[in-house]
Amino acid sequence: MSSTLLVLSSPRGEASLSTKVARTLAGSIADKSGGSLTVRDLGANPPAHIDSEFVVAATAPSDEPTAAQKAAAEESDKLIAEIAAADTVIIGAAMINFAITSPLKSWFDRIAVRGKSFRYTESGPEGLLKDKKAYVVMASAGIYSDGPTKAIDFASPYIRHMLGFIGITDVEFIRVEGLAFGEEAAQKAISGALECAGALAKTHNQAAIAA
Ligand SMILES: Cc1cc2nc3c(=O)[nH]c(=O)nc-3n(C[C@H](O)[C@H](O)[C@H](O)COP(=O)(O)O)c2cc1C
Repeated sequence: MSSTLLVLSSPRGEASLSTKVARTLAGSIADKSGGSLTVRDLGANPPAHIDSEFVVAATAPSDEPTAAQKAAAEESDKLIAEIAAADTVIIGAAMINFAITSPLKSWFDRIAVRGKSFRYTESGPEGLLKDKKAYVVMASAGIYSDGPTKAIDFASPYIRHMLGFIGITDVEFIRVEGLAFGEEAAQKAISGALECAGALAKTHNQAAIAA
């Protein structure tokens, strides 16, 4: 059975446009496939920043881990299991100070664990979470998909790279951008992104991912 993981990361709660569009896409895909939908709202429940206990647990686990190391390993394992179980991953990402939010960064920090989501080979790192499709909904006041500001979008190249690092290379972005360029431009950006989400849900091919 197909399974969709929706990862939300805006700090703006219900006002979030990345959440609105990502939810619409996830709902349509889950309805179409009849599969499960798991929601991980990092904005509402941010994973803690990684610390020394996490680093020990993830990179050099002790035979007698401390309670904090055990908890860190359990949290990572839970987040990795969630994404490993999904064939479709949808991320709602708010552009904050030209980058992703810190909860989304913490999520990546906690799921990028050697031997669990990637490994090193003689020819370099290899992602272990393969055969998945990802959609990333990116909301921003400015326009970063093209033009001179593309170079200062540190969010989308990072997300694409991290997904690829753990094995997810089939990644499509939906932009809700130019939201600060007046009410008309904002409405156009939102309706365009919702239309795009509708079209992607229609062409989304669960069978091809599972094959
Ligand atoms: C603290 C803060 C920092 C922001 N930084 C940027 C930025 O660097 N570039 C940008 O285009 N928009 C920026 N914005 C605007 C957000 O990207 C915009 O509100 C977007 O809709 C947020 O995504 P969301 O609707 O999913 O919450 C910022 C907003 C906030 C609240």
